Amino acid sequence: MFHIPLSSLRPHFGDIDIYLFDQLLKGRIQKGMHLLDAGCGTGRNIAYLMQAGVEIYGADISAEAIGKTRELASELAPTLPTRNFVVADLDALPFENKRFDVVLCSAVLHFARSEEHFKSILRELWRVLKPGGMLFARFSTTIGLEGKLQQVEGRFYRMSHGPVWFLADEELVIEVEQELGAGRLEPLKTVLVEQERAMTTWVVRKIV
Ligand SMILES: C[S@@+](CC[C@H](N)C(=O)[O-])C[C@H]1O[C@@H](n2cnc3c(N)ncnc32)[C@H](O)[C@@H]1O
Repeated sequence: MFHIPLSSLRPHFGDIDIYLFDQLLKGRIQKGMHLLDAGCGTGRNIAYLMQAGVEIYGADISAEAIGKTRELASELAPTLPTRNFVVADLDALPFENKRFDVVLCSAVLHFARSEEHFKSILRELWRVLKPGGMLFARFSTTIGLEGKLQQVEGRFYRMSHGPVWFLADEELVIEVEQELGAGRLEPLKTVLVEQERAMTTWVVRKIV
């Protein structure tokens, strides 16, 4: 059996999110699939996938981040067109309906500017997802920290490191799930960081 040395894990996978890695191990992302990293930042979650033959696209509101992701793509996957990486707000994506097999949205949704913006982003990610496709999202929530966070207004909270974030709760996740017609591929999994921050992983399938 082919042996992968421990020392080659980091060169291959870099800083990939461990919960996304879990989805790779479960075989839910395959070569040739069309995958959008929504709020891709500088591309830590797509560096490996670009080289693995996945058709990667990225969107981010930051022109600087998209510039860096294009550079990464030119270096790691020169055949991927740089036009796959676009500057856009996730509530208005320049992609046609049902374009992607997989949509990733990692560490972005808590930056929503309002509850309506949060929902608009999720509706837009859903619009570009194919029936049967997978949405993988990680975002900060109140789950497990109910009553322990500093509420500013509505679902906005002051985080211990300073900024005010939009934190979904389980009720909102279920409401959006029902509106979209999303089926859970995994139970909701939430990691509590020092009892100060909750990071929830939400993995759903678009039911036809
Ligand atoms: C913490 S970084 C996460 C980057 C990447 N997803 C990761 O996991 O490494 C958040 C990213 O979301 C982008 N972002 C925040 N709000 C956005 C929006 N409304 N539309 C598009 N991108 C957004 C930021 O520009 C930033 O690159």
